[in-house]
Amino acid sequence: MCGIVGYIGKNKDIRIGLEALRRLEYRGYDSAGAAWYNSEKKEIFFVKKVGRIDNLEKAILESKLDLIGNPFILHTRWATHGGVTDINAHPHFDCRKDFFVVHNGIIENWAELKEKLMKEGHKFISECDTEVITHLIEKYFQGNLEEAVRKTLKEIQGTYGIAVISKKDPQKLVVARLSSPLLLGMGREETFVASDPAAVIAHTRQVINLDDNEIAVINPNNFLILKEKPLVQIEWTLEEAEKKGYPHFMLKEIMEEPEAIKNAIRGRLMAEEGLVKLGGLDSVSEKLRKINHLILVACGTASFAARAGEYMLEEYAGISAEVDIGSEFRYRKPVIDKDTAAIFVSQSGETADTLAALREMREKGILTIGITNVVGSTQARETDAGVYTRSGPEIAVASTKAFLGQLATLTMLTVYLGRQREMALVMGKRIVSELTKLPELAKDVLKSASAIEKLAKKYKDYKNFWFIGRKYNAPIALEGALKLKEISYLHAEGVAGGELKHGPLALIDENFPTIAICPSDSVYGKIVSNIEEIKARGGPVIAIATRGNEDIRKIVDDVIYIPKTLEMITPMLSVIPLHLFAYYMAALLGHDVDHPKNLAKSVTVE
Ligand code: AGP
Repeated sequence: MCGIVGYIGKNKDIRIGLEALRRLEYRGYDSAGAAWYNSEKKEIFFVKKVGRIDNLEKAILESKLDLIGNPFILHTRWATHGGVTDINAHPHFDCRKDFFVVHNGIIENWAELKEKLMKEGHKFISECDTEVITHLIEKYFQGNLEEAVRKTLKEIQGTYGIAVISKKDPQKLVVARLSSPLLLGMGREETFVASDPAAVIAHTRQVINLDDNEIAVINPNNFLILKEKPLVQIEWTLEEAEKKGYPHFMLKEIMEEPEAIKNAIRGRLMAEEGLVKLGGLDSVSEKLRKINHLILVACGTASFAARAGEYMLEEYAGISAEVDIGSEFRYRKPVIDKDTAAIFVSQSGETADTLAALREMREKGILTIGITNVVGSTQARETDAGVYTRSGPEIAVASTKAFLGQLATLTMLTVYLGRQREMALVMGKRIVSELTKLPELAKDVLKSASAIEKLAKKYKDYKNFWFIGRKYNAPIALEGALKLKEISYLHAEGVAGGELKHGPLALIDENFPTIAICPSDSVYGKIVSNIEEIKARGGPVIAIATRGNEDIRKIVDDVIYIPKTLEMITPMLSVIPLHLFAYYMAALLGHDVDHPKNLAKSVTVE
């Protein structure tokens, strides 16, 4: 939701912190703030401003304050409690401005804590839940900051990633987490703190991930955490987290989709044996052999990858599978037996609803498998075993290349489990060989980028869009619609083609274009009848079709061609034009493509 940055070490210009915070702007961007301890004045300076981080920097420079500070904390906000105002922006402070706090998460019992503290004489100035933390620390402080924070957190119900500084105990940066991600970036005689790795890569690639219920007390030369923690090496380079000259991270990440597939399959395919090697599953391989039912749980775009996976696992691995979205599954009472395994799909590995469902399954002793992109994330650490999708840093809020990484990983998992069961060597070899060719085929699809941009220009004045697909491409229709919705703010719906005549067809007319995903696969004839139903009512149709299919041109208005491949693999080609279409539409409409309104990259609260 929000992004937190902290630093302690040498006296530094607060703008160093602003640079790090900019890399977290996709986590929330309605207001931002900074607080820094100035040892010369023995004072904590702070500035908070509504709007983007550029606004904050401008306000800081206009403040004429001395910009040198150590330690310092910064925050970029995605409002949950209290309107978007300068006062509600973080950092928050206590009655005497002795303690400053930035927070990512939700304090559920803030109202009763506030009431109690006001009765004790504390003066509140904001509507934000976080402010209760500052007054509790003020209440418990007796000379030792971490002790006051420890006592404060005992009273808090909810989720938090917090960073605290104080002029009463200035040589310390105290941070803590419960559910919201927080890591320490270990530098030479300096430590950065951040909500995710993107903020620290410019300074270090050595991080320590805080676990739930841990407090870290950091001073210039060292730090103390109550529990031993593994040192994790970040795979990504700073260069990878840059825009590389693209106007938006989203376009860069779409152009990296072939690379994402290549990274996912690298060193995992055994062409001769028609097998897939997934080292992260070795420890549970025998357990997986006995599994006869799979539950796949995910949210948003990741849930659409899971839906495509469901088709693959049933058809090619011969295992019964079901998919549910995290926010529903966590409250369902599924009937499951011991031969069931649960697979959790998440780019960030920090999505609260998916994590809650994971903890439910662990509680019930179900084998849990993670398909995750972010190394060392909570999902990766809490599942029994898993596979990293290796898609690299995905900065744009709209997920694109990570989706390709998820589909490629689910395809490999299908071969892995299928070959443990009835899948024959020839089929294993066929799928493995198609996967091997896929990065080049995906590159080929990207060559249509300018044609797709033209299509976006042609259709930019329409306000409503249908996306239809069948079988493996029914989930891709859902994905295409979500992408267009979340960044262009146009109304778009994805539906399985066969459902049109059960209602949606009523909306079809010349003002309601449809994007029909119709590769030449086992259900091609069916989707063509759906297209004809639409054309019969004057609806414009853009087709995503298999190269060489000239007939389709006769019945639709526009065609984007994709190369031929195995039916189960077509989603990894058919989705690319949909990602590009959504991107060009949003860019044409002048939207902030990487920071769509009201959204955030990883949804860490329920
Ligand atoms: C996709 O573009 C969205 N950002 C969103 O639906 C996202 O897929 C969802 O929040 C799940 O995120 P995760 O993969 O990090 O768990």
